[in-house]
Amino acid sequence: MSQSSILIRGGTVVNEDASSRSDVLIENGLISAVGVDLKAPEGAEIIDGGIDTHTHCQLPFMGTVAVDDFDIGTQAAVAGGTTMLLDFVIPAKGESLVSAYHKWRAWADPKVNCDYSFHVAVTYWNEEVAKEMETLTKEHGVNSFKSFMAYKGVYQLNDGELFNVFQKCKELGALAQVHAENGDAVSEGSAKLLRLGVHGPEGHMLSRPEEVEAEATQRAVMIANRVNTPIYIVHVMSKAAAEVIVQNRREGKRVYGEPIAAGLGTDGSHCFHCNWRHAAAYVMGPPLRPDPTVKEHLMRLLATNDLQCVGTDNCTFNADQKALGKDDFTKIPNGVNGIEDRMAIVWEKGVVPGILTPNEFVRATSSSAAKIFNLYPRKGRIAPGSDADVVVWNGDASRVISAKTHHHAVDFNIFEGMKVHGIAEVTISRGRVVFRDGVLHTMKGSGRYIDRPCFGPPFDGIEARDKDRDERKLKVEREPYTGPVVKDLGVL
Ligand code: URP
Ligand code: ZN
Ligand code: ZN
Ligand code: ZN
Repeated sequence: MSQSSILIRGGTVVNEDASSRSDVLIENGLISAVGVDLKAPEGAEIIDGGIDTHTHCQLPFMGTVAVDDFDIGTQAAVAGGTTMLLDFVIPAKGESLVSAYHKWRAWADPKVNCDYSFHVAVTYWNEEVAKEMETLTKEHGVNSFKSFMAYKGVYQLNDGELFNVFQKCKELGALAQVHAENGDAVSEGSAKLLRLGVHGPEGHMLSRPEEVEAEATQRAVMIANRVNTPIYIVHVMSKAAAEVIVQNRREGKRVYGEPIAAGLGTDGSHCFHCNWRHAAAYVMGPPLRPDPTVKEHLMRLLATNDLQCVGTDNCTFNADQKALGKDDFTKIPNGVNGIEDRMAIVWEKGVVPGILTPNEFVRATSSSAAKIFNLYPRKGRIAPGSDADVVVWNGDASRVISAKTHHHAVDFNIFEGMKVHGIAEVTISRGRVVFRDGVLHTMKGSGRYIDRPCFGPPFDGIEARDKDRDERKLKVEREPYTGPVVKDLGVL
């Protein structure tokens, strides 16, 4: 067999809809056949490589730069069975979106060890931004734009601006994403906590309780629904915000929700830890919640498909970087790890207790993302013609997560000491073995930027919904009023 051919024999191929005992033949970076002829070792499950919908490799943020760069971040990814990252370009206010995109590409392209693509954040609004969004969709394969409802004075957009962004997204067929937290409430809450003398990491969590996230989630969904465009809520961290998504989906609104590995695997009780470094390591926005039942709740919503994709929001900072906020929690760089452990966390907390089936696991960690971001079936499925991003997954094997052994650059792991089942025994990216039996075989720069065309599955039926809107249907045809009209005095 030639160098670029790999035959995986005798495993169970687990797609989102069904599993079957099959062999998988990989040639020239693609899956060329899935069949049943050959015998091989027992126990292995062959799953599609994971897609992490939400990462921030080497993000310049809150006065410093995230330590997992595109090299280390993608090494951690493949070590955990993830073969594609959707990272974020976040332009500074006033910065050209297109030049920020090119800057991020120059950071990522020489370093990535697996495929990736970019969402782009819209951090301010004007007509030039609208034109640049169009350029990004038409020339740079971007089909998703994130707006922030928090980070007041930095990235936060007001409701009018959200309307403009969502309207433009709809016109382009791009998915509107939001960071849903009421930034004014966060700002007021933080100031109040500091006034009360709470300066430690717990202040971050206490200053923005669940209702702050839920209110923004509802507002984002309302605005998207007014515009009639699909909306994707990134990093859903609370029961209250998840409930908003569930209710709106019940009403037929086109809403998607993304929990993250941190929210499914741990909780915000760590922010009360007496060791400052430990507590600060869990600071992220929206915060991990102190309620220890949130993780299982969110996992159950993945099972019912009320929430769809599992991301990580991987945005890692070492102790000395977190220490920028040692006297003031508002200055602690927000972010946690997750890229490497995401698949194992979902397996351990989802599949092991029987909340998710292995097929639902594949849906939540890969296929849904591929569909929502219009990569399917090139990504997200094991079938002839699909990219050979494949993982030989051993659901029975276990390991203990630790910063001592992880593949991240960061000096802390929020899942430290957790025993998890589900190990990537072999990870194949673009038809090459990049991780095997605990050893990386990555090649820096071997990953590719993947273009994502607009008008993906979230837009199916949107035009028909437009035609069906009450605004059009309920227009009343009348004879014009012909009676007297008072003079407009021009008073307020
Ligand atoms: O704490 C977080 N989430 N850091 C990354 C930036 C963001 O809002 O996603
Ligand atoms: Zn360009
Ligand atoms: Zn965010
Ligand atoms: Zn993020």
